[in-house]
Amino acid sequence: MNVSEAIRNKRAIRAFRDEPLSAAQVSAILDAGRRSQSSKNSQPWSFIAVQERQRLQAIAALGDNIGHVGGSALCVVIVVPQENERTLWHFFDTGQAAAYMQLAGQELGIGSCLGTVYDPDGLRELLGFPAEYQAQLLISFGFPAEQQPRRGLGAGGRRQFADVVHHETWGS
Ligand SMILES: Cc1cc2nc3c(=O)[nH]c(=O)nc-3n(C[C@H](O)[C@H](O)[C@H](O)COP(=O)(O)O)c2cc1C
Repeated sequence: MNVSEAIRNKRAIRAFRDEPLSAAQVSAILDAGRRSQSSKNSQPWSFIAVQERQRLQAIAALGDNIGHVGGSALCVVIVVPQENERTLWHFFDTGQAAAYMQLAGQELGIGSCLGTVYDPDGLRELLGFPAEYQAQLLISFGFPAEQQPRRGLGAGGRRQFADVVHHETWGS
């Protein structure tokens, strides 16, 4: 799979087959995150890789929007420092690492979906990371189930190229 194909075909996958990932597959995903670019190469992240079913289900129970974690084979929680003057860039970098990990998974036939953390304290309690850190984003991974839930946000798809892109100036 080449990169443009991967970008074009990538869809959020929220239902997974009950099939574990191999250790090599888990490592390949995490290593793609480790290799991501970051502001000033600060690499502000730590990744908590959760694979135990009970723990995955406990994470899923923290919010409706992250129900997909419960049936996944792997949940990667991206942990960055608590609020400081670099927070904007920490979250930008979080998104970069997330996208790299998702694309690495896709190359292996592994689907994924992002999840917004609406109960960061609950998540910290479950996973035991120190108070100086926070996690606002996680990603579930697994082999895609045949049936996927209906998409929450419209019918999917993307805005038209001409609607999104301006050449040279905004008014063009
Ligand atoms: C920052 C961010 C947070 C997201 N949070 C959630 C979430 O909490 N739950 C969820 O099911 N999907 C979440 N998503 C996935 C988006 O809904 C999905 O990427 C978008 O609808 C496009 O889906 P598609 O690629 O299948 O068209 C999130 C995506 C991003 C970029």
